[in-house]
Amino acid sequence: MSSDVDPRIAKRVKMADGALITRMLDISNGLEDVIRMGRGDPDLDTPAHIVKAGQEALANGATHYTHPLGIEPLRATIADNIRRFGGADYATDEIMVTPGGQHGMFVIALSLLNPGDEIIVPCPGYNPYTQAADLADAVVRKVPMTMETNFTLTAELVAPHITERSKILVLINPNNPTGTVTPPDEVRKIAELARENDLIVISDEIYARLTFGNNTVQPVAPLPGMRERTITLSGFSKAYAMTGWRIGYLAGPRALIEPMSEVNHAFAISTTAASQHAALAALTGGDACVEEMQRTYDGRRRAILAGLDAIGMSYAEPQGGFYVYADVASLGLGMGAGAFCERLLAEGRVMMYPGTIYGDHTDDFVRMSMTQPVPRIKEAMVRMAGVVDAIRAEKAALAS
Ligand SMILES: Cc1ncc(COP(=O)(O)O)c(C=O)c1O
Repeated sequence: MSSDVDPRIAKRVKMADGALITRMLDISNGLEDVIRMGRGDPDLDTPAHIVKAGQEALANGATHYTHPLGIEPLRATIADNIRRFGGADYATDEIMVTPGGQHGMFVIALSLLNPGDEIIVPCPGYNPYTQAADLADAVVRKVPMTMETNFTLTAELVAPHITERSKILVLINPNNPTGTVTPPDEVRKIAELARENDLIVISDEIYARLTFGNNTVQPVAPLPGMRERTITLSGFSKAYAMTGWRIGYLAGPRALIEPMSEVNHAFAISTTAASQHAALAALTGGDACVEEMQRTYDGRRRAILAGLDAIGMSYAEPQGGFYVYADVASLGLGMGAGAFCERLLAEGRVMMYPGTIYGDHTDDFVRMSMTQPVPRIKEAMVRMAGVVDAIRAEKAALAS
């Protein structure tokens, strides 16, 4: 924890290195026309039929607490939807609707982890899993992944991190920030490892509907022996552009969901009623809107990759989600990703996040969100090329 944190704050609260984020916010505050490719918040609107369902629900009195697990028709539809995409079979009391998938991570950590228990997380990977484990006084074991294998989590990489205290293994598929889809065969091997070592798997499939090319996501729960030890975490924020509605869900065996429901109730009582009706409309309103978003992101992905190819910057192959994870070290600027992001923002007015925010053990990578339309992405790539040229020119002048 940094030294300026009020001593009254509990020791379990571990502050991220906020200095970089604060500096970037400070820089962007003084700037106009910043192209924001930092946050993972889609610029796309929630589809109109979903918004309408939320509005109608409010007008019709959906202004109360609901059942702690969520309204029954939504849970039934989530269960149907999980089955439709090859997932496990769940009864409605095995689905817990939560105020965002992220809330679900904290419910899981505080419900399942005793102090000293170990949780294995992919690195880089979505950071709140670590924060949730910290709040539970658990021990986080990070599995470093590298560009050479496209940041793919494998059973072989996980195995050495398993100890007597290991309790949970997190799989984020597709992964944020790397955009990696774990190949189905590897998911099977990871599941086998979890079974052999009696681990609970959290399978974060929130980006599973947003994949590119032939990449598909193998759900963990329906694999042999996995249903009783898997909690699938997903939601509506990404595939339906519903971040602000704050709604997600967990699916798991009754033995885990029932006690977790107590914790969820204590935290939130229930998820916003109108958001639940909107989510129901999302799942019953057909696939066209998700497919259109997927196509939109695919076009943006191509625009980013064309820009990076022109600059000569290497990147992990983005197979799903809406991020490109690119290698600043490949530019040979002699500069870390954090410093590069600051200069890119100050001089190019383009906001991207360094991979260190996601626990990357190197300071080599930046994450670019596909949250801008193609013309703005092209402009961002031109601005980035300009900043890279300027840094190179500086370096050359110093060397001569
Ligand atoms: C991998 C992953 N899981 C879960 C979430 C949480 O999403 P929400 O809380 O909006 O459902 C995010 C958000 O960025 C994410 O990237």
